Amino acid sequence: MKKRYGQILEMIGNTPIVRLSKVVAGSPHEFYAKIESFNPGGSVKDRIAVALIDGAEKRGELKPGGTIIEATSGNTGLGLALVSAVKGYKCIFVMPDKISEEKRAILRAYGARVVITPTAVEPEDPRSYLSVAAKLVKETPNCFYANQYHNPDNPERHYRTTGPEIWEQMDGQLDVFVAGAGTGGTISGCGRFLKEKNPKLKVVCADPVGSILYDLFYHKKIVDPPAPYKVEGVGEDMLPENVHLNVMDDFERVSDQEAFAMTRRLIAEEALCVGPSSAMALVGAIKYSEKLKTPSKILVMFPDNGRAYLSKAFNDVWMTENGFLKGVDLAKTFNRVMSAEDLYKEMGWSF
Ligand SMILES: Cc1ncc(COP(=O)(O)O)c(C=O)c1O
Repeated sequence: MKKRYGQILEMIGNTPIVRLSKVVAGSPHEFYAKIESFNPGGSVKDRIAVALIDGAEKRGELKPGGTIIEATSGNTGLGLALVSAVKGYKCIFVMPDKISEEKRAILRAYGARVVITPTAVEPEDPRSYLSVAAKLVKETPNCFYANQYHNPDNPERHYRTTGPEIWEQMDGQLDVFVAGAGTGGTISGCGRFLKEKNPKLKVVCADPVGSILYDLFYHKKIVDPPAPYKVEGVGEDMLPENVHLNVMDDFERVSDQEAFAMTRRLIAEEALCVGPSSAMALVGAIKYSEKLKTPSKILVMFPDNGRAYLSKAFNDVWMTENGFLKGVDLAKTFNRVMSAEDLYKEMGWSF
């Protein structure tokens, strides 16, 4: 940690790695998590936001006063909005309606316009967030389409920064690297770098049930048709150019139920307030670790902050309505907000 920074963008990267204990108790392996919520925008996407804008400026695709347009699940939008606030660009973000209210609100707070589209439509449907973003790009003068799913500056940034950080922080002692894939930039960039350092290292992708990436890796074709799921930011219904399957050694499928349950365990047992895609990656890592013959050092990417999911993963009503919390009497849980009147009534006290 430097004493002082010239401006906020200098604080992106150099995020901490924390050893996990209670949630992997009894395992012969060592589990570590790279906590990307320590980036100023709260997610791993701050890293690529700088790279996407730098690349566009260098190629003359983005000029002063320009507008940045992106199809995003929120975090890349936040990273781009952060950089744009410093550099004076306008931002328009197109997001599927499954994305949390918190993510929409923080983007607006950074001055961005947010366009919401239906989640459950085919990628090529004109109403999809990818199609609406493409339409906006066609109609908006002096704009730059960040195009994180196919822009090579994305994985390249992780190859140049995140991968080397992990290797240095783990003192070159790492056997397995696990991450989810949305654009694929993180796992493809980090995976390529770490394998150059240790060719025996295994790169494992944790993939939500309902995503097509697992099938494309194992069967080179879609076997189970894509289906909606609640975990945000990971998994796909199309194959982004930035998902480099040749870098990966294995895939583990994880259900929403497993991911949301682990999201709750991480904050309750490790005091790690992270998003469901972090928990999904950890569940995938634990499943993969059960196949390992020798005790191994396993690092899992934790992409973002749990605060963006207070109305979902950390909301008992939402969790119950979606079947992820069963048999819990919400009126009796300890961690509930209650009025002083209710407290006194429950305790039999009087004012
Ligand atoms: C919460 C969250 N987790 C994981 C990812 C996946 O990262 P990548 O796009 O580098 O594959 C994203 C990407 O948007 C994300 O927002």
